Amino acid sequence: MIMLKFIKSLRIAAATLLIAGVFAGAAQAAGDAAAGAEKATTCAACHGANGISEIVTYPILAGQYSSYLVHALQSYRDGTRENAIMAGFAGALSDQDIADLAAYFSSLPGPLRTADRP
Ligand code: HEC
Repeated sequence: MIMLKFIKSLRIAAATLLIAGVFAGAAQAAGDAAAGAEKATTCAACHGANGISEIVTYPILAGQYSSYLVHALQSYRDGTRENAIMAGFAGALSDQDIADLAAYFSSLPGPLRTADRP
């Protein structure tokens, strides 16, 4: 009987964790492009005023997939993607900053595209 109760509470705990995980995922995905625009002023020096840099060493961010931008910024922040410049900028960003910046840059029109298929 006690064992059964224990298993039941374990299942409830697992379900709660699962639900919490789903909500955490949703919260992370919800970036605010307007807030991102304000946070992007420091980025403009290198990545261009509208996320379109004129200098080849600074990647174009405008129109990039939001999930790609989130992944790139998280990777600079945790060091899995190594770049001395971006480590400094990404290191100061919160998860919400990253979501907002990604929402902003992905919303901009940009020249990024995949190659045309023959
Ligand atoms: C001093 C110049 C500079 C500033 C300011 C700067 N970046 Fe960067 N950023 C770079 C460079 C250089 C790279 C390429 C690094 C590499 O090779 O991984 C880069 C790469 C990136 C990438 C990866 C792009 C890709 O196509 O993989 C993202 C995303 C990014 N920056 C976002 C930002 C954001 C957001 C800000 C503002 C918070 C910012 N950067 C500020 C210089 C800068």
